[in-house]
Order: sequence, then C-alpha cells, then structure tokens
Amino acid sequence: MSDISRRSFLKFGACVAGGLCASEALGEAAAPRETAARPALTTVLPYPRLKLAHATQLKTGVELRLTYPDKESPISLLKLGKKAINGIGPDADIVAYSRLCSHMGGSLNFRPSAGEFQCPLHYARFDAAKSGLIIIGQATDNLPQIQLHMDRKGDIYAVGILGLVYGRRANILG
Ligand code: FES
Repeated sequence: MSDISRRSFLKFGACVAGGLCASEALGEAAAPRETAARPALTTVLPYPRLKLAHATQLKTGVELRLTYPDKESPISLLKLGKKAINGIGPDADIVAYSRLCSHMGGSLNFRPSAGEFQCPLHYARFDAAKSGLIIIGQATDNLPQIQLHMDRKGDIYAVGILGLVYGRRANILG
C-alpha cells in the first residue's frame, strides 16, 4: 500500500470510528468566509440627465413636445407665463409633464388659455401650475411632473420624474 492510500485509509477509519469527518465538515461550513465588499442592491435605476431645449426656444403658452426618460414616454415642456410649483427659470414658470393621462393613458392636450392639460378620452383636466394637480375627471392620480434643471447658459435638462408614468411599474425601464 502506498503512503497516500495508507493515509487515506487511516483517515477514513478515524472518520468512521469517531465522527471526526463530520465535525471537520461542520467546522468548515460554520467558519465565516471572507467576502468582497459589494455595492448595496437597489431596484431604482437612475434617471438620465437629458437636455430638452434652450430657454430661448420657449414661447409662453406654446408646448414643446418631447420624450423623457425614453422615446416611449411623451412629455410637454412649457413656459406658462406665471409662477408654477417646481417651475424653473427667472420667472419660475417653466415646467414639463408627462403627456399620458394618469387615468388610462389618453394623449393630453395643453390648453394655454386655461393653463391646463385636458384629456380627450374621459375629459380629465390637470393644472400645469400646480404640479399636475387633477382638477376634475376620472383620474385619481396627478399628472407626473418632469423635474427640470436650467444651467447658467439657459439650457434646460430633464433630471427626474415626480410620479409614475401611466402604464409603468417603474419610470426607468431596466
Ligand atoms: S384616459 Fe384621460 S380621463 Fe380617461
């Protein structure tokens, strides 16, 4: 019998006699393992910072139809001509909203005379100066508002969304 096989045989014998192998195995399993530091898990994906327009492109009451945070999500960028909740710019009157109605995703129209978004499907109305507050209609959620930032040059960026875009479980699709 070679040295190796004799050693294996003796070890096996000791295992059978004293249950030593089991305790060794348990000892190994119970010993803490060194693990590399991992970043915290998250289910929230970051919003892109997307340039929408320059301030000089905006005319009071005229919407710019764009998309954010992806091509499947239509939005309107507006200069309301009066101070608005979360409005940006020198007059705090530049805002942006999802154009999908929070009721059933109808494609909203902006009515400058009323300062509202109106839905052609079931006639919900949302206040563009009050963070998309529902005024009337079957919708139960306010209109998702796009978070905006203007830099010193007057470029306007979308940086996030307040509220959930209609039909999504998350605004940023993974
Ligand atoms: S889809 Fe807009 S009110 Fe119903």
